[in-house]
Amino acid sequence: MWIFGWKGPSGFSASSTAEEVTQGIDGSALTAIVTGASSGIGVETTRVLALRGVHVVMAVRNADAGQNVKESILKEIPSAKIDVMDLDLSSMASVRKFASQYQSSNLPLNLLINNAGVMASPFMLSQDKIELQFATNHLGHFLLTDLLLETMKRTARESDIEGRIVNVSSEGHRIAYSEGIRFDKINDESGYYTWYAYGQSKLANILHAKELARRLKEEGVEITANSLHPGAIISTNLMRHHGLINTVGQMLGKYFLKNIPQGAATTCYVALNPQVKGVSGEYFLDSNIGNPSAKAKDADLAKKLWDFSCTLTNPK
Ligand SMILES: NC(=O)c1ccc[n+]([C@@H]2O[C@H](COP(=O)([O-])OP(=O)(O)OC[C@H]3O[C@@H](n4cnc5c(N)ncnc54)[C@H](OP(=O)(O)O)[C@@H]3O)[C@@H](O)[C@H]2O)c1
Repeated sequence: MWIFGWKGPSGFSASSTAEEVTQGIDGSALTAIVTGASSGIGVETTRVLALRGVHVVMAVRNADAGQNVKESILKEIPSAKIDVMDLDLSSMASVRKFASQYQSSNLPLNLLINNAGVMASPFMLSQDKIELQFATNHLGHFLLTDLLLETMKRTARESDIEGRIVNVSSEGHRIAYSEGIRFDKINDESGYYTWYAYGQSKLANILHAKELARRLKEEGVEITANSLHPGAIISTNLMRHHGLINTVGQMLGKYFLKNIPQGAATTCYVALNPQVKGVSGEYFLDSNIGNPSAKAKDADLAKKLWDFSCTLTNPK
């Protein structure tokens, strides 16, 4: 689409970069958490939010990689406000520890960017014995969001600035299991198909934002929740489990696929752009509102996933 420079109603297109979609925006009153900020889209999201004055907390599982990213951003933007904190989304204990440390820090929280992800990994179980892609991409973020919601509500009340929760999903959500989410077989190795499991987890990102948006509206809270597709195939480390596709993608990608500054644009647009004020429960792509699959719009499925996720994150 962006090859043709097509601009959507927002005035931006698939070729817009994260800097372009946030041009002139002052984010200096805001504090954000970006998960998976040590690589790819998360690095550029952190850099551009920091460039706009946002205080960014990088939530990473590899602290050294996080520190290196922080230092390279500080070289470019000496005034950047960046902290690095440990978070392994595939471990509920780690998510709980992160949330409790964040709360103890007394930092406000305006923006939660649920960006981290693994793609199409071989069958593995998380530390909590849950299929790894579902555990990392969805469940870890579900629990993190839940644990930080009170802090976000307090911040929104005290600052009178709308809070925003942004789930980085994927058009891959269309390639999920036929039932969407395999509630009764979530940890079954038999029938596990690596791409369907990725699609399932990315479908869950959209359904999570949708049900969360509904609940926040019902409660009258000034926090929005949206999901997005950053573009494909952006040449990051995401394809680490697929060496050949990764190599070909890196070779061809620079000619006709999105680069990383373009790949971080929709995230930064949804997080910062005033055009998105009050917009909640939507799915974005190329910095415009998009149309996800029928399953991703299924309110009953979203409610069922919510209850399922509550049970898994709070086992009796
Ligand atoms: N690239 C694309 O074309 C594309 C397309 C559609 C959607 N997406 C989505 O975009 C998001 C960012 O992906 P990317 O392309 O930037 O990939 P990436 O370069 O591989 O970055 C993924 C980030 O997630 C982190 N992560 C993975 N598992 C984690 C865990 N258990 N706990 C905490 N952090 C963890 C990684 O940390 P480590 O470096 O320590 O592993 C890394 O920082 C993902 O949600 C992905 O599904 C990307």
